[in-house]
Amino acid sequence: MASEHKRAAGERALDYVKDGMVLGLGTGSTVYYTLQKLGRLVQEGLKIQGIPTSKATEEMARELNIPLTDFVRHPVLDLTIDGADAVTPKLELIKGGGGALLREKLVASASKRMIVIIDESKQVDSFDNLEIPVEVIPFAVETTVERIRALGGTPVLRERGQSLFVTDNGHYIVDVKFPSVTDVSNLHDTLKRLTGVVETGLFPDLASHVIVGTEQGVRELG
Ligand code: 5RP
Repeated sequence: MASEHKRAAGERALDYVKDGMVLGLGTGSTVYYTLQKLGRLVQEGLKIQGIPTSKATEEMARELNIPLTDFVRHPVLDLTIDGADAVTPKLELIKGGGGALLREKLVASASKRMIVIIDESKQVDSFDNLEIPVEVIPFAVETTVERIRALGGTPVLRERGQSLFVTDNGHYIVDVKFPSVTDVSNLHDTLKRLTGVVETGLFPDLASHVIVGTEQGVRELG
């Protein structure tokens, strides 16, 4: 069952957490299990501080009494633990299924290490035809969508209910599929250069380690 695999991966990541660490706290249903166990470890005396990657994670961390800090006090984090929507054998990631990609990238890129926790359904050979979330400025969004289409992608503005999805940063998300993604870094750079694009959910070089929950147990890559 996928949720049990997520739990196994999410909890295993805590083996890498040591007293005194400053942690990046990711977002999503796999990180949920990490946070639940982290809350129990903190209650038992583990001394860590966290920087959340979304309002949802911040709320959960507060409920679990996980101490929080910020970039002023801790510009460099020891370790980020986060989920992903897709992971290649080269440990390239697609993130942003939950819409938190901008803060997730800010936190991961300020961390000495990023551990990614997934169930095996997230392992892919390539990003061909997969939805890549792109965070965009609401102003002139139609123009930005057309610029993305002109690159050969099929962009769809993300909705939630009857409205457009709005990120924690007040932006929109465009989910875009490309028929062939041969160079992830290059695609990220190309998208990022478009006026109106704030950040992409492509993380070509941030993951240092991936923990995969599988039917046969937990597998670690990297
Ligand atoms: C949120 C993310 C999540 O990490 C990603 O969507 C995976 O989520 P889940 O663990 O629920 O499958 O990038 O923006």
